[in-house]
Amino acid sequence: MQALGERALAMVIDHFETNRDAPTARTLSREDTVRLLHTPPPEEGTPIDVLLDTLAQHVFPNTFKADHPRFYAFVPSPTNFVSVVGDFLMSGHNVFAGHWLASSAASQIELTVIDWLRQACGLGEGAGGILVSGGSMANLSAIVAAREAKLGGHDMRAVVYCSDQTHSSMFKGLRILGFGREQRRAVATDAQFRLSVPALEAAMAADRAAGRLPFCVVANAGTTNTGTVDPLEELAAVCAREGLWLHVDGAYGAAAVLTERGKAAMPGLALADSITLDPHKWLFQPYELGCLLVRDARHLQQAFRIDDDDHADYLADVSRHIQQDVNFYDRGVQLTRSFKALKLWLSMRAFGLAEFRRAIAVGFDMAEVAEAMLREDPRWEIVTPAQLGIVTFRWRDDAEAPAVLDARLRRAVDLMRADGYALVMSTMLKGRPALRLCPIHPGANADEIRETIARLAQCCAMAAAESARASIGSL
Ligand SMILES: Cc1ncc(COP(=O)(O)O)c(C=O)c1O
Repeated sequence: MQALGERALAMVIDHFETNRDAPTARTLSREDTVRLLHTPPPEEGTPIDVLLDTLAQHVFPNTFKADHPRFYAFVPSPTNFVSVVGDFLMSGHNVFAGHWLASSAASQIELTVIDWLRQACGLGEGAGGILVSGGSMANLSAIVAAREAKLGGHDMRAVVYCSDQTHSSMFKGLRILGFGREQRRAVATDAQFRLSVPALEAAMAADRAAGRLPFCVVANAGTTNTGTVDPLEELAAVCAREGLWLHVDGAYGAAAVLTERGKAAMPGLALADSITLDPHKWLFQPYELGCLLVRDARHLQQAFRIDDDDHADYLADVSRHIQQDVNFYDRGVQLTRSFKALKLWLSMRAFGLAEFRRAIAVGFDMAEVAEAMLREDPRWEIVTPAQLGIVTFRWRDDAEAPAVLDARLRRAVDLMRADGYALVMSTMLKGRPALRLCPIHPGANADEIRETIARLAQCCAMAAAESARASIGSL
């Protein structure tokens, strides 16, 4: 155990120490992965050192490194070593964190970290929550809570309102829960990608007139595309007036509420009935760690409690010993669940929230630095300014048709990924691709962002040269 543990520890420390020098993204072909990794079912054992060598040579390097300081794509997931140790301790002790009797102290730690997040979001003492695998599960669970609270169960007339910027996990969750396409509305956003309140009100009125039942609005506190925050205060007022549940998907952005800038960017967050907040995004935790907070914890219990007549007979002794309604299996989908809270608790206690605030602030600063650098060069066009750590932009060329520019942008993304220095991907904004930079790693710095932008400009120029050659070739 000692020798194996030391080797594994050395591998992780090496990853932390050399990550910055490694390529940000590598993907193998299926042919290569089969050749390197596929084996028949292993009847006999293999020396563990051989297996660790395989992992070190063929598995870990051939990934997208979401914890790399120059990983600016999607939602980066920078981690911290204390939380990694927390994950190791969690697995090593294999605590069953499903009910109070089995995990009183671990459940207390989960309640405590949830309480810290509750306070950060400004929710009252009656609020509660649960740690889950990530934003997808938190969003799905929120809809279950909303449905139980507002409708008392399934209703084919029920309608959920999202925006056209809502994360796909929400639509997927609705489908899994049995909501048909006719039961969801992707309400238009304004020029800043904010959910349009007049469009929402018009959609609701039309639905009511058609005999449908509006019951839930999903707002964004940091869209994944642009970091845009929807007008939460106005939406909360509409929901209060219409008797609807307001869910705020802050999977990406809500963690920033720990900082003054984050708080200022999300006025009205505390008015939500439920909030998704992913510690495995902007709170520097290893996967998988999401959180659902609910303004009135009883709604979670009401939605997920095992019904008395569903005969959980072998759990009867457990429910006799329930303490203040906290059996986490009664708050979410899972019965058997891991002690996910450990890593968040350990790192928040070890570093202190002030350090988390400083680390989050880097993301705000670096997105602003990137925007300022892009504005220095007139060949770049800012599509959306730095918001909650995200800036989007395009390479300008007034002589070219949008379709040509769009194809070049995609080609530039591929060239940049192959280059490996930094990972920058694109997203679609109002029907056209745009480059997107999300520099929220606490180790991100201005020099590397400048170098990244210079390389992006080169990739755009190369893509333009390639397409010019191709069109000459077609003459
Ligand atoms: C705003 C938002 N909501 C939900 C999700 C889904 O979260 P997860 O991938 O953790 O399931 C994401 C993922 O990036 C997100 O950015």
